[in-house]
Amino acid sequence: MTQGGYPVPVDISIITIFPEFFASPLQVSFVGRAQERGAVSVDLVDLRTFGKGVHRQVDDAPFGGGAGMVMMIEPLAQALDPLEHTHRILLTPAGKPLDQSMLDRWSQMPALTLVCGRYEGVDERIADHYIDEEVSLGDFVLLGGEAAALAIIEGVVRLIPGVVGNPESTETESFRHDGLLEEPQYTRPAEFRGMKVPEVLLSGDHGKIAEWRAEQRRQRTRDRRPDLLRED
Ligand SMILES: C[S@@+](CC[C@H](N)C(=O)[O-])C[C@H]1O[C@@H](n2cnc3c(N)ncnc32)[C@H](O)[C@@H]1O
Repeated sequence: MTQGGYPVPVDISIITIFPEFFASPLQVSFVGRAQERGAVSVDLVDLRTFGKGVHRQVDDAPFGGGAGMVMMIEPLAQALDPLEHTHRILLTPAGKPLDQSMLDRWSQMPALTLVCGRYEGVDERIADHYIDEEVSLGDFVLLGGEAAALAIIEGVVRLIPGVVGNPESTETESFRHDGLLEEPQYTRPAEFRGMKVPEVLLSGDHGKIAEWRAEQRRQRTRDRRPDLLRED
């Protein structure tokens, strides 16, 4: 089945207590256009809909005592029940650090669910029984999972074939074909306030330019991210 020319649109559901967080970011640039063209659909699930009582409560004090509140299992489980067929990702600092290979994998899946925590996090039984993968944006603590969910959406959407005009631009950048950081880029003017672009880029010699770029990628990665260098 095709929809708007995209053979397999990716359906993304986001479970959050702040659906309004996503209003503007989901409308702009490629993410907005990808939705208009049917490459991706984003469904915002307001967790409060499943909250308890008149106040639509979604959090409670932790068993055993301690600071803050914990998101309760019941509203989250009810929100996740109809999304059992999707690949369910919980955003948490305790998850596996997000990387390009995860985004590659998820961009080929038909349906993803991103669960955004708040407060002190979510009842562990959610991670144990309703989640396929726990993912962290990095070794720091955010107020909630929404910013991490947006990072995933941006990373996934740009990999859906046809979303970014020139497929080469997603193939040749950092962390892709050779696993290295991308080389430095320059554009006009060739000189600004005495700062010149590297001569080789103006030479028109495509062989030399390719060699220079490859060396820059290796050097940059060695200097900034030696952990990315593969042992061959
Ligand atoms: C204040 S944090 C909870 C932090 C938790 N008490 C801890 O110490 O690990 C609230 C929510 O923000 C989200 N969050 C915070 N930092 C994150 C990160 N680095 N990656 C992904 N999600 C994060 C998670 O959904 C988390 O449940």
